[in-house]
Amino acid sequence: MTKLVSPAETEPTRSLPAQAFTSRRIMLADREIAGTVHVAGGRIIGVDEDRFDAGAIDFGADLLIPGLVELHTDHLEPHYSPRPKVYWNPFSAVFAYDAQIAGAGITTVFDSLRAGSERAEDGFGASLLKLGDAIERAKRSGMLRADHHTHLRCEVCADDVLVDARRYAERFDVRLMSLMDHTPGQRQFRDEEKLRDYYRGKSGKSDPELDEMFARRRELHANNSERHRRALVELGHARGIALASHDDTTVEQVDEAIADRMQVAEFPTTVEAAQASHAAGLAVLMGAPNVVRGGSHSGNVSARVLAEAGVLDILSSDYVPISLIEGAFGLADVAEIGLLPGAIRTVTKNPADATGMTDRGEIAVGKRADLVRVALFEGHPVVREVYREGLRVS
Ligand SMILES: [Fe+2]
Repeated sequence: MTKLVSPAETEPTRSLPAQAFTSRRIMLADREIAGTVHVAGGRIIGVDEDRFDAGAIDFGADLLIPGLVELHTDHLEPHYSPRPKVYWNPFSAVFAYDAQIAGAGITTVFDSLRAGSERAEDGFGASLLKLGDAIERAKRSGMLRADHHTHLRCEVCADDVLVDARRYAERFDVRLMSLMDHTPGQRQFRDEEKLRDYYRGKSGKSDPELDEMFARRRELHANNSERHRRALVELGHARGIALASHDDTTVEQVDEAIADRMQVAEFPTTVEAAQASHAAGLAVLMGAPNVVRGGSHSGNVSARVLAEAGVLDILSSDYVPISLIEGAFGLADVAEIGLLPGAIRTVTKNPADATGMTDRGEIAVGKRADLVRVALFEGHPVVREVYREGLRVS
């Protein structure tokens, strides 16, 4: 199969107007200022503190923050498969999902697609290339609101994960790969009873059915885990794809992630794992829903606790796009994270830096003009306007 050309080469050129935005609350990377942000050719060309350009688009008392950068959202899946065994037209699903992403203030998104049909019963394995193809076609139309990249979520124990990942990476651009192991008794599901509860609720399976399924999963783990992990790490390094560990629980697992030269530690489940990752320079990513809901849905460590310990680097919306901005504002009172400017960095500059996208994530001269107008209504952040490379997209 031939590799498609990169999105930068395929997206039609758009005309990017010169304009300016004023606000009493502009969020720089380290502090808040009042003033005017000047934009031309899709980039920020000037930031004037305490000066208000009369011809500028006036955001008044609303905040002007950088466009959000989302590294791990699986929200395309419910648009593509809104009901079990019901599949929507993937091209249409991509646009519906994109509108929701942009409406949440996200201007750069890593669409998380699962490689390896560990959960063969949900039939997603076969959909991977279909979704990749739909995203690529949508990008070529030049009509997507957000800038889309792929995060390949690899179920390392699945029999077909290597075939899926290699095939996808040959055809499409992949920027991030996470290596996941959801075997009962491991990592996120160290407490097997919680996984049982999850499946009882989700699929209505009986205990004997779950016993059989869990036994099968343990067998896959024994057969594939180590061998697939090695091959996937190799694939990532060979193609210059950033790597993420997933659900690290012990310091030994973090040591393995360090040895495999990973950049991101997704959803560490314990304070020890998060501390060890952060200290080693891996960016610690936690779910924004965990902040908004006040804890982890699977009973693991809370994101706020990690923020207060000074080891939280990135928030991700995971399964609810609007949680990204809500989670960031929800951490604005945490001194260890750097109050509001630091909280906003967890959804802008930090995820951009961790994946090598140093042209964005910050309101500074030379950066992409990805900008979001946010109002605070009864203390709640409301996304009012979204600009990608200076063009309004939501
Ligand atoms: Fe997980």
